[in-house]
Amino acid sequence: MHYRDCSCGSLNFNDIGQTITLSGWVASRRDHGGVLFLDLRDREGITQVVFHPQTHSEAASLAHTLRSEDVITVTGSVAARLPGTENQKLPTGAIELVASTLKILNRSEVPPFPIEERISNEDLRLTYRYLDLRRPEMTQKLRLRYHVTKIIRSLLDEHGFWEVETPILCKSTPEGARDFLVPARLSPGKFYALPQAPQQYKQLLMVAGVDRYFQIARCFRDEDLRSDRQPEFTQVDVEASFLAKEEIFTLFEKIFYEIFLQTRGVKIKTPFLRMTYKEAMNCYGSDKPDCRFGMEIEDVSTIFTKTDFKVFRGALDHQGVIKAINVKKFASISAGQIETLTTVAKSTGARGLAFIKVEEGEWKSPIVKFLTDVEKEALRCKLHVEEGDLLLFAADAWEVACHTLGRVRLKAAELQKIPLYPHDLSFLWVVDFPLFSYSTEEQKWNAVHHPFTRPKAEDEELLLGENLAEIRAEAYDIVLNGVEIGGGSLRIHEQELQAKIFKTLGINHEEQERLFGHLLSALRYGAPPHGGIALGLDRLVALLAGEESVREVIAFPKNNRGMELMTGGPSHVDERELHALSLVAAPQKHKDRC
Ligand code: AMO
Ligand code: AMP
Repeated sequence: MHYRDCSCGSLNFNDIGQTITLSGWVASRRDHGGVLFLDLRDREGITQVVFHPQTHSEAASLAHTLRSEDVITVTGSVAARLPGTENQKLPTGAIELVASTLKILNRSEVPPFPIEERISNEDLRLTYRYLDLRRPEMTQKLRLRYHVTKIIRSLLDEHGFWEVETPILCKSTPEGARDFLVPARLSPGKFYALPQAPQQYKQLLMVAGVDRYFQIARCFRDEDLRSDRQPEFTQVDVEASFLAKEEIFTLFEKIFYEIFLQTRGVKIKTPFLRMTYKEAMNCYGSDKPDCRFGMEIEDVSTIFTKTDFKVFRGALDHQGVIKAINVKKFASISAGQIETLTTVAKSTGARGLAFIKVEEGEWKSPIVKFLTDVEKEALRCKLHVEEGDLLLFAADAWEVACHTLGRVRLKAAELQKIPLYPHDLSFLWVVDFPLFSYSTEEQKWNAVHHPFTRPKAEDEELLLGENLAEIRAEAYDIVLNGVEIGGGSLRIHEQELQAKIFKTLGINHEEQERLFGHLLSALRYGAPPHGGIALGLDRLVALLAGEESVREVIAFPKNNRGMELMTGGPSHVDERELHALSLVAAPQKHKDRC
């Protein structure tokens, strides 16, 4: 059986007169008084096929039995479409295949949704993902993803990086998120963990002298899911020895340049902007600022040193700050929208959100009676206040005030419908993250990035003191349009420093040996200075595709309850299987008891 000479996306004007065989799916059909037109679809595109009952009656009458999604092979001659019937939008729009023979390879039932349309029921799409992926829009996204990884592979190869696979069944070590565990049948009562990232292995490859490693690596994290998070996701994971931070930045700027050039035809501006974590928090209230619009946060604490307004006074008296944003031309905000912003503010731990509307030459707000003329004048200068503006204030501890206005800023932009175009590309390196953050809940210090990140040399002596929050890390994130698409750091390659960091994180000597003995041991045998980065491939491709959710660019994603609806995973397993693994299922609580 000869199935095809070319794809359904490849014929054009130059092929007119040729006899061609195509195979694919029936996308749609139109009956024009006996003459039947159908669109034949495959991965590469669509070709219009015409059946004339007068000249090829057998093929035409069989064609009348066809329904959407039947799989067929058709042979015919390529002809120009009649003038005026060309379709400029299709690469094959100038021609049609005049069918002489038709073979039906397989019939399709009526699909649960039309393949050519975008549908909103995501659970239905995920249940029939094989049909969802057949939709040209989804095919394009799979193609884009493949293209991106191809560009990355080829560039990294050019720069001397080797692709090395690392284990999927690993040892469980504390790394930030919760591990997925796999019972080890041959070691009853023991478990493997699926890797949250190949972090330790790639560092050990550096000790091994591999020098430059990469992997398109699957990572597993048992976290609460969101539109930008999946329990299993893919990183472009990279590590290099003897490479300075600046060289890592330059390499990745080059990679992004090529990706955007080859997939979008856009020349992005390099080098990317750099911003310290402190600046990002102070000006944008986020460690992944969206810099496509202004509305920067200002610190107005010094304006209110003498204030009697209890909310501002209270914050300053407790070593807090007063921060403000000016939402230009939004004094028309409704009471409901103020309420929405206040709810956003409170969700980040703020006690409230003070506002001032500047309308008809007046400052309108319940708090205006507490402001002196001097304070108003100082605000006018600092925030560049003009008629029609809306001022929003957060008075709190520094971190809370920053986070609050960071979230409020994004929500205000959304309410004001500030146009944020995905093609406005705002790349940014955020650098100098803190090494540790204190968890009041756990009453201990945690690593902000991961425990293998090195402190900045000039801050290392602070490790001896109390003020651990001030220690900056050699860590960096790459941010695109407010989305963290990657992160990395220079690593600790000295055994003593690594042990000291573990100790600061509350991991005692015995636990260090139990959990990280392999790494500490490797660092004793000539570990080179090294560092690296991991890009979130799903997030990057979603941004390139103009999609909000990473599920749109993953072939078989989990839904937001962590379920794979097509196959029905996760599922119960047979008790015998559990027994073989030395496991007993805990009795389930029945939530929906009547
Ligand atoms: P990190 O944890 O920052 O770093 O992860 C790197 C990037 O992976 C993406 N990402 C995710 N994407 C989808 N779903 C998730 N659940 C998810 N979690 C993270 C993000 C993030 O920037 N080993 C270090 C990297 C290094 O230091 O080299 C690491 O894993 O885009
Ligand atoms: P109150 O006197 O508590 O009603 O607060 C007066 C105004 O200040 C209200 O608009 C509150 O939303 C706002 N507000 C309260 N606490 C804060 C805070 N920590 N930062 C900014 N505004 C606040």
